[in-house]
Amino acid sequence: MLRDLYGRVVTNLRITVTQRCNLNCIYCHREGEKDFEKEMDAERIAEIANAFYRLGVKKLKITGGEPLLREDICDIIAMMPDFDEISLTTNGMLLSDKAEELEESGLDRVNISLDTLNYEKFKYVTGGGNLDSVIEGLISAINAKLTPVKLNMVLMKGINDEEIFEMLKFANSFNKESTRVILQLIELIPNSNTKDLYISPEFFEKQLSTISRAIKIRDMHRRKQFLTPLGIVEIVKPLDNSDFCRHCNRIRITSDGKIKLCLMSDEKVDISNLHGEKLKDTILKVIKLRRPFFT
Ligand code: 5AD
Repeated sequence: MLRDLYGRVVTNLRITVTQRCNLNCIYCHREGEKDFEKEMDAERIAEIANAFYRLGVKKLKITGGEPLLREDICDIIAMMPDFDEISLTTNGMLLSDKAEELEESGLDRVNISLDTLNYEKFKYVTGGGNLDSVIEGLISAINAKLTPVKLNMVLMKGINDEEIFEMLKFANSFNKESTRVILQLIELIPNSNTKDLYISPEFFEKQLSTISRAIKIRDMHRRKQFLTPLGIVEIVKPLDNSDFCRHCNRIRITSDGKIKLCLMSDEKVDISNLHGEKLKDTILKVIKLRRPFFT
């Protein structure tokens, strides 16, 4: 088991398989990566995933950039060890063609970034994305049983803050006999371009609690899940949130194969060239360097 000095057990691994993307979202934090470095090949990704799996990591999330831009994405998934769950975060643009093959390769579910259902706003936020392709991607993901699909909606003032209930109804329109789509409202981590778009999730928490049948607290990051008559909504609130950090159970691998200790900090440890016991020992040591960003 991977336990850090704060008693937090690392159960989730996030691997960035590429920094390349076919969109250019106004808020994108690029998973904290700045320079374009060489991408790991599929074998190396599998080697790292295996090392973490043997140390007790249960869940894997594949991220980018846009992971579906990797031609070998299905091979990568097929090479993964037997995690309890393998999921992938995508902008959905290329999903409709690939959903079935992804599922056959062993992918369990997807998160799809979908900030707005307004065509003009969608184009603006994503730097030219095609909303219809994303919705087709979502439908293909549901048909291929890559579920529950989580829709990632980054909260932005003046862009989608009045669209929450519409999005919730949209998500729930796919939930006929079982819950297949869950809405995730994500707090914007602002940068100099987006600081005016910041809006606190607390505003929405209040609205949602008035209509909720129940509110669940997930282990992961102590995230709140609102069970409403319109469907399930989860709120992801990383900023200035010591609860989020105290219950953080994830660690990241950058596309060039470094361990990144925390999304919010630049701290990285280079593990390229490490294999076998050396790789394992280094992971065990690096875990002890994890610290909560907000305390
Ligand atoms: N703030 C919040 N979430 C972000 N994401 C990327 N950049 C940001 C940011 N600045 C998350 C969103 C998006 C996924 C790809 O990464 O959830 O859907």
